[in-house]
Amino acid sequence: MASPKTIRWGILATGAISVTFTKDLLVDPITRGVSNIKHTVVAAASSSSKIRAESFLRECDCDASAAAYGSYEELVRDPNIDIVYIATPHSHHYQNAMLALEAGKNILCEKAFTINAEQAKKLVAKAKEKNVLLMEAVWTRYFPLSVYVRETIQNGVIGPVSRVIADNSVPMDPTVNFADGKHRMVNPDLGGGALLDLGIYSLTWIFQTAYHTQEPGLRQPPEVLAAVKKYRGSAADETTTVLLNFPRPESAGGDIHAIATTSFSLAGPDSSIPPVRIQGTKGEIQVFGAAPRPSHTKLILADGTIEEKAWPQPGPGKGSNWFNGYLHWAHAEGEGQGMFWEADEAASAVLEGRKEGKYLGWEETITIMEVMDEIRRQGDLKYPDKIETTEYPTAL
Ligand SMILES: NC(=O)c1ccc[n+]([C@@H]2O[C@H](COP(=O)([O-])OP(=O)(O)OC[C@H]3O[C@@H](n4cnc5c(N)ncnc54)[C@H](OP(=O)(O)O)[C@@H]3O)[C@@H](O)[C@H]2O)c1
Repeated sequence: MASPKTIRWGILATGAISVTFTKDLLVDPITRGVSNIKHTVVAAASSSSKIRAESFLRECDCDASAAAYGSYEELVRDPNIDIVYIATPHSHHYQNAMLALEAGKNILCEKAFTINAEQAKKLVAKAKEKNVLLMEAVWTRYFPLSVYVRETIQNGVIGPVSRVIADNSVPMDPTVNFADGKHRMVNPDLGGGALLDLGIYSLTWIFQTAYHTQEPGLRQPPEVLAAVKKYRGSAADETTTVLLNFPRPESAGGDIHAIATTSFSLAGPDSSIPPVRIQGTKGEIQVFGAAPRPSHTKLILADGTIEEKAWPQPGPGKGSNWFNGYLHWAHAEGEGQGMFWEADEAASAVLEGRKEGKYLGWEETITIMEVMDEIRRQGDLKYPDKIETTEYPTAL
């Protein structure tokens, strides 16, 4: 057996999701049955200080030889990095991704990919010019659970998809947690609001089942009708509800309806209710657990068949004394967050010379950004010019 190829990562920003991602990244890929790739972190950068980058590297148990930088500019100049993972607030993705692309780096960039579709198009054009990987880090798409759901649809098991209902609402108690308005969830300067942060997952489920499963030549962008409720009269949305109609030829089953909902201000969801339902003429698939990190599926067919599946998270396992999670959500000992599958895909893409994510390419990322633009237009959700601009460089 050929020895695994090592991909060298540079981590741009040291916030909460960078910690979660980096810990997942360093889990031995064998624990999820991957034997051809290894990941290593060779550098991290903080915009605030080199000391912050050093403490991040220690916290994530990175190799002692990893470089710590006190600026993103230094990180993207590091010739030892194969892929830069960008995890700043969405307001900064465009500027940070452009910085890394100009330096000729491959990129895995957190969601929401950019603030608007124009920024996404400019990044794609730059990635083409530089001939590098540019991939949106929608980790859920790379879960084996998601692969199973898409394959079940494509195998015709539930008949043509007719309707998808997807919710990603997280109770965040905004009046307590975001009282000063500075948190990135509500701060317009940081692209705050439920839609870009949480609603992207509702749209992800709708797109990956109603759009991505169609033949590329048949896929058409949806019509969009949105209701947007602002957070305390601010520029950020707290609850957004969207009705989508995906045109599809009659011969393939006709139009597909979808409802995407998102909120950060509602009470906690009931775990017995699936946040995602994909309904066809012969049956439906229900997805349980949080929409971004689902854990169970239930296939219910019109003929009475019911097939339930659990999709446990791999990792070093019980007894490893290893813990991961996001912010205060710690998982059971040895259980990963699930971000390693997207990292494996980014690494495979680089090794195979591919420039786009396998399950979420440029065209689809841009189409989803266009849908979010339209939702924001209908809901009068505007961000400051400095984060909507495609001017590079712009100081933020
Ligand atoms: N895939 C997922 O599951 C997931 C989960 C959560 C968040 N996310 C995405 O990841 C991104 C970051 O989220 P997060 O929860 O990690 O946020 P966070 O904890 O606030 O961290 C963001 C980091 O960005 C850097 N940064 C640079 N300029 C900044 C500015 N003006 N204000 C604040 N931070 C700034 C800071 O790191 P330095 O000081 O080191 O530069 C900061 O620690 C967002 O786009 C979010 O949507 C993804």
